[in-house]
Amino acid sequence: MQNNITRADLDAVIEYLRQDNPMLTQSQQVRLFEKEWSEWLGVKHSVFVNSGASANLLTMTALRETFGPGEVIVPTLTWVSDIASVIQCGFKPVFVDIDPRTLGMAGNEVLAKLTPQTRAVFITHVLGYNALTQRMLDELKARNIPLIEDVCESHGATFNGQKLGTFGLMADFSFYYAHHMSTIEGGMICTDNADLYETVRLLRSHGMVREATSDDLKQRYREQYPDLNPDFIFAFPAFNVRSTEINAVLGRSQLKRLDENNARRRENLRLFLDNLDPKKYRTDFAVEGSCNYACTLVLQQPDPAFRAKVEAMLRQAKVEFRRGTSGGGNQLRQPYARKLIGDREFEKYPQVDHIHFYGYYLGNYPELEQGKIFALCRMLNALV
Ligand SMILES: Cc1ncc(COP(=O)(O)O)c(C=O)c1O
Repeated sequence: MQNNITRADLDAVIEYLRQDNPMLTQSQQVRLFEKEWSEWLGVKHSVFVNSGASANLLTMTALRETFGPGEVIVPTLTWVSDIASVIQCGFKPVFVDIDPRTLGMAGNEVLAKLTPQTRAVFITHVLGYNALTQRMLDELKARNIPLIEDVCESHGATFNGQKLGTFGLMADFSFYYAHHMSTIEGGMICTDNADLYETVRLLRSHGMVREATSDDLKQRYREQYPDLNPDFIFAFPAFNVRSTEINAVLGRSQLKRLDENNARRRENLRLFLDNLDPKKYRTDFAVEGSCNYACTLVLQQPDPAFRAKVEAMLRQAKVEFRRGTSGGGNQLRQPYARKLIGDREFEKYPQVDHIHFYGYYLGNYPELEQGKIFALCRMLNALV
């Protein structure tokens, strides 16, 4: 993977810091970044936080504050913070296996696991592939079950031409190093719902009511708690997960190049999958609308000897790779999940287990030369 923060981004920060007495803590730059991000995505509200994991945590906290405790449907293939946030907020995670063509939750299994206790379906769009289906959207709408989208790995990907992150009640993005764009560390929570927007703003800053944009909301609290200083009313036992003006300046600079970079990443993935030998590697991913910051390399057969050859070749060619793709594979195999969910639960999810042992991701960055993609595919295809 390569750093996606360019000279132009760094110069934007330097320019900002050249001012006399520049504001550094969360202020105007954060507000502008949130506004520009909302316009780019096509949502009404966005809240910038210090990481994608913080976005997950605030989203689940807002969900619990709004709908109360219960079950949340989660994937077995995702980043740990998706599951951790569910557990930390007191929800029961209900796991679902993946669809091998999208690496996202298998739609039929999601629907089969809905119960009257389900408070949300927390979907992850893995490595740039869309995980939504029209049937899932229709069923959730008919049953009035909120959809939450984790788009941390899929900025700019679409379903039916509409950007991911605009289908659910709330959506989370990450701006960590390898992702489609970076603010060094950073995350965004996006929603069209005005009440959830206010809740998330409060949760970001200690639960403080003065963080609300709604005067009505502030007035209600003031009247209900006349004994409190209006500057210090804490509505929730919350967090401090704010970011800074510097990170927002970087984000605003990066956002200008996001669409152009995404077009290159799409082309890179297409070349990679088109040139791999489908007898040895899976190439039938659902690429329509996808936008991948990583190339997916999944072996067709569960063959440890072949896997060893693939890994040796990648190491020798100095190609960075991660086994298990997003988050290291089957979350249910992790120590925390074995302790909390059950020691042998992971056995129930064969699709994610194949990815756990025989699936990889390789960096896909805008400057990746096409010649390297062709050479890599030739070397992979030559392995027997
Ligand atoms: C699907 C998903 N969700 C959440 C996160 C957490 O984001 P961050 O690393 O910015 O905390 C990641 C991280 O890479 C991720 O891939």
